[in-house]
Amino acid sequence: MRLILMGPPGSGKGTQAERLVGILGIPHISTGDMFRKAIDEETELGLEAKEYISSGGLVPDEVTIGIVKDRLGESDCNNGFLLDGFPRTAAQAEALDGILEDLRVGLDAVINIQVSEGELLKRLTGRRICRGCGTSYHMVYNPSKQGDRCDKCQGELFQRKDDTEETILSRLDVYNQQTKPLIQYYEKQEIIQHVDGNQGIEEVFSEINWGLGRDQQ
Ligand code: AP5
Ligand code: MG
Repeated sequence: MRLILMGPPGSGKGTQAERLVGILGIPHISTGDMFRKAIDEETELGLEAKEYISSGGLVPDEVTIGIVKDRLGESDCNNGFLLDGFPRTAAQAEALDGILEDLRVGLDAVINIQVSEGELLKRLTGRRICRGCGTSYHMVYNPSKQGDRCDKCQGELFQRKDDTEETILSRLDVYNQQTKPLIQYYEKQEIIQHVDGNQGIEEVFSEINWGLGRDQQ
């Protein structure tokens, strides 16, 4: 399956992506994760992305499109992929259409997770991530059983630098101005599935699976 997970910051893209790729056996391609890895490794890409990410802005289209194009050309994407956080601008959506055309494949679905702004703020300020395996937790909604350590790998849990209230508000602004209009773009292509992301993690997962025509696991 070739899928896009769309939604504002904190809507649960990463949380649902992790579960979906587990059952679908396709790679999870998160541009945010790719940039954060590059920042940690202090690569050229990381140095360029850092200032945009820490201010809550978007990394320039030509850079982002380039890394996604390279990634989709890798052999593990031959049988499908799940894009998380890409595309985020009209230019990225149009470039993706071109990349898919070159690869002679099409999208199966665009899943749009909708969550109210008040809830997004609570989710992002309470999020904690494992330094070891990247699993995402929430201090209230989805806590680790081991406090500040990861249930899966015992790694240390940390807070993302862009999860401060000020940066979250900038990210929401950028989403509303540049990414939200893509909902219409995919509505025109008649492949979008709207999901009520205000529900619990398992309920959202069920609704996505139902929309994809899959029986609940
Ligand atoms: P990115 O990493 O993609 O961040 P984002 O879009 O802001 O989304 P988040 O990862 O913050 O949230 P999420 O939807 O994954 O939610 P999660 O599952 O973690 O991008 C970061 C930055 O990189 C951007 O700001 C930009 O600078 C740059 N970038 C990335 N892609 C780019 C692109 N294409 N172009 C240009 N620049 C780009 O959940 C959040 C919290 O809520 C967690 O604690 C979780 O446990 C909890 N939670 C999840 N679901 C539920 C639920 N149903 N109920 C209760 N709690 C829940
Ligand atoms: Mg994410």
